[in-house]
Amino acid sequence: MQHISVTVDGMEYNAEVEPRTLLVHWLRNGIGKVGTVVGCDTSNCGACTVLLDGRSVKSCSVLAVQANGSEVTTIQGLSDGNEWHPVQTAFKECHGLQCGYCTPGMVLAAVDLLGENPNPSEAEIREGLEGNLCRCTGYHNIVKSVAYAAELMGGGSK
Ligand code: FES
Ligand code: FES
Repeated sequence: MQHISVTVDGMEYNAEVEPRTLLVHWLRNGIGKVGTVVGCDTSNCGACTVLLDGRSVKSCSVLAVQANGSEVTTIQGLSDGNEWHPVQTAFKECHGLQCGYCTPGMVLAAVDLLGENPNPSEAEIREGLEGNLCRCTGYHNIVKSVAYAAELMGGGSK
């Protein structure tokens, strides 16, 4: 077992984990962050996306020990508890979800995308989210949601 200390959604956690434990499994089974979901076994779908030190990663492709000393933001820590993050608001307003399974990962990938590029074109939004799969929406409203989130955050889309 290895000791890790990771700040998740603003709270520091200290834990003993097996070196092979995936970050997503520790988040879900170790500390109850079940808003981070597993959609595949192959690092393809992006449903498990979290922010690791501010950048989006597929938490099924990261070992928990690799997050030692880092800050992780899951969908459960994105809002401050009172107000939604603008990306969450935009997904609601633009109907950017149906079943919602992909949504935590989509939202966090979009947060990273807009941090890098506050004024993305439609093509840049599609490219930025290409690692996140949705089996329901056909992506149209997801792209609209991210463009609207850019507006809400003061960037706007091209
Ligand atoms: S569960 Fe991580 S990419 Fe699908
Ligand atoms: S809303 Fe169902 S998978 Fe995206």
